[in-house]
Amino acid sequence: MKKKTILLTGASRGIGKAIYKKLENNYIIIAPARKELDLLNNKSIEAFIERNKKLEIDIIINNAGINFPQWIEEITDENMENTIQINLIAPIRLIRGFVGNMKKNKWGRIINISSAFGIVARGKQVLYSSTKHGINGVTKALALELAEFNILVNSVCPGFTKTDLVVKTNTPEKITLLEKDIPLGRLAEPSEIADLVEFLISEKASYITGSAILIDGGYSSK
Ligand SMILES: NC(=O)c1ccc[n+]([C@@H]2O[C@H](COP(=O)([O-])OP(=O)(O)OC[C@H]3O[C@@H](n4cnc5c(N)ncnc54)[C@H](OP(=O)(O)O)[C@@H]3O)[C@@H](O)[C@H]2O)c1
Repeated sequence: MKKKTILLTGASRGIGKAIYKKLENNYIIIAPARKELDLLNNKSIEAFIERNKKLEIDIIINNAGINFPQWIEEITDENMENTIQINLIAPIRLIRGFVGNMKKNKWGRIINISSAFGIVARGKQVLYSSTKHGINGVTKALALELAEFNILVNSVCPGFTKTDLVVKTNTPEKITLLEKDIPLGRLAEPSEIADLVEFLISEKASYITGSAILIDGGYSSK
């Protein structure tokens, strides 16, 4: 069977790298580095789409994301614009640019890597949580719009996962405290998140669409 083609963002590190490794043998993966596709820059996104419009993308995995936690009165304009741009606007632009082939083939999968903070919230998470709740809204609206084309759209909502995003924004002491707050008592491994993505893009996941699937060791159940 012909290998399906995936567009994956943020594959250089963390969860994206684990997804890349998990899928590289069975899929063709287009995983542009930031110099080829800078998600902070709409001109870069539209130029990437234009350059690659002949690519027959079957699956989009919007994984790249940022989080710079700030209390409401500390929030800088730059952080506000960048977080909304990377976590929300860039995924919408990429889907708009590449959904055509999936519609033509009447087959497609779109995975938005959201967060447990797309379902619940905590302090200092105004920007991150609003964009992750927002991307879950994109998932639901698109699932309705694209169902007739057999394109399934889902959000994956990880809890704390062992990547730079968590390690650089928390001290080791804070990570120990976080682990105590997670019912399973540990952070997720990036490969555990990749396992769920692998399932959702497979033929086995043929009746799941419009869902925001938590994978957080029980963190948000409390
Ligand atoms: N780690 C967690 O605990 C956790 C929990 C819930 C949800 N998530 C979500 O999972 C996704 C991946 O997170 P992660 O922890 O793996 O993050 P990470 O280790 O910080 O990696 C972020 C990725 O996004 C890319 N990126 C950032 N800004 C970019 C830009 N302007 N243009 C292009 N690429 C850019 C980075 O590329 P460069 O190498 O070029 O910087 C990198 O590949 C995110 O959407 C995040 O919100 C993570």
